[in-house]
Amino acid sequence: MMKNNVVIRGLGRYAPEKVLTNADLEKIVETSDEWIVTRTGIKERHIVEEGQFTSDLGTEAAKMALADAGMDADEITHIIVGTFTPDHLVPSCACIIEKKLGIKNKVAFDIAAACTGFIYSLEMGRAMLALHPDAKILCIGAEMVTHRVNFTDRTTCVLFGDGAGAAVLTNDGEGPELLDVKLATDGNLGSLLTVSGGGSASTYKPGETIRDDYFIQLQGREVFKHAVRSMATICEEILEANGLTKKNVDVLLPHQANWRIIDAVGRKFDIAPEKVYSNIDRFGNTSAASVPLALSEAVETGFIKDGDLVMLTAFGGGFTWGSALLKF
Ligand code: UT7
Repeated sequence: MMKNNVVIRGLGRYAPEKVLTNADLEKIVETSDEWIVTRTGIKERHIVEEGQFTSDLGTEAAKMALADAGMDADEITHIIVGTFTPDHLVPSCACIIEKKLGIKNKVAFDIAAACTGFIYSLEMGRAMLALHPDAKILCIGAEMVTHRVNFTDRTTCVLFGDGAGAAVLTNDGEGPELLDVKLATDGNLGSLLTVSGGGSASTYKPGETIRDDYFIQLQGREVFKHAVRSMATICEEILEANGLTKKNVDVLLPHQANWRIIDAVGRKFDIAPEKVYSNIDRFGNTSAASVPLALSEAVETGFIKDGDLVMLTAFGGGFTWGSALLKF
């Protein structure tokens, strides 16, 4: 197998300024701060302002990652965006971000892997770097999840927020090494977590009002169980494939879907709570944005230190799941 040393040259993140607290949600649906905090760990989430879209969030995160990498946007050769909430179906969010970064003639495309979208983009980035060693890849996770949230459904509307995170991947330069990525899917479980309305199997005729299927539909308890099991299993697998054990892991950074899921993965994995990164209290579940947003924050605040072995993991609709190993 072709081996290359992929490094993360820069990291960036962006969350809209507008904050929706649990107290705000209490005024919209029959819920309570106490229920949301105990069941999910979420206290507030950032949501887009009028006129702000997924590509705007992704562009801001990309700009921060480029500045962190000390690179001009024009040096980028590929833009890969994990999102299930693109501005449009066509053009892709990646194409719009290319335009908003003021560059052109790059390779730009979206990945539909729901909350695992960023981990999938890292694997695509690695593959591109194996094919094109001089490539400079922008991997982005960007979501305006609140666009697909039904704010009259208390079982889902309290869970999600908007945001973006980005990483610049290259084969050269300084930065943590992307040691490995592992991905998986099980389409048989797809119906447990869907956003189907508007797709070719769930069309809308002109003049028709939108149905519930336009919004996120999830069977929370079932998704919860699979999320814990899948993330813990794929973390075991990636360590074993690299001749490592749980003892080697300095930081576990899981997808921020629910504090109880994060905690359960940490426990299954037998890792001390202080080694598990979480910012779900401030951002909620931002889907594909959650891992890069948390990673950028964890590096900037010093939670992740030089020499650390960091394990990322995510889980999402599809079902999709994955993990990645980084050596700082
Ligand atoms: O990123 C991947 C996508 N993430 C997920 O799909 C999340 C996975 N699942 C979960 O995080 C959890 O299952 C939830 C947070 C969604 C729900 O927590 P739970 O502990 O599984 O609660 P539940 O669905 O079993 O509901 C318990 C009770 C129900 O009332 P009854 O039937 O016991 O009377 C719900 O109606 O809580 C009620 N409930 C609420 N009450 C107040 C549900 N949502 C709310 C709410 N406020 N927002």
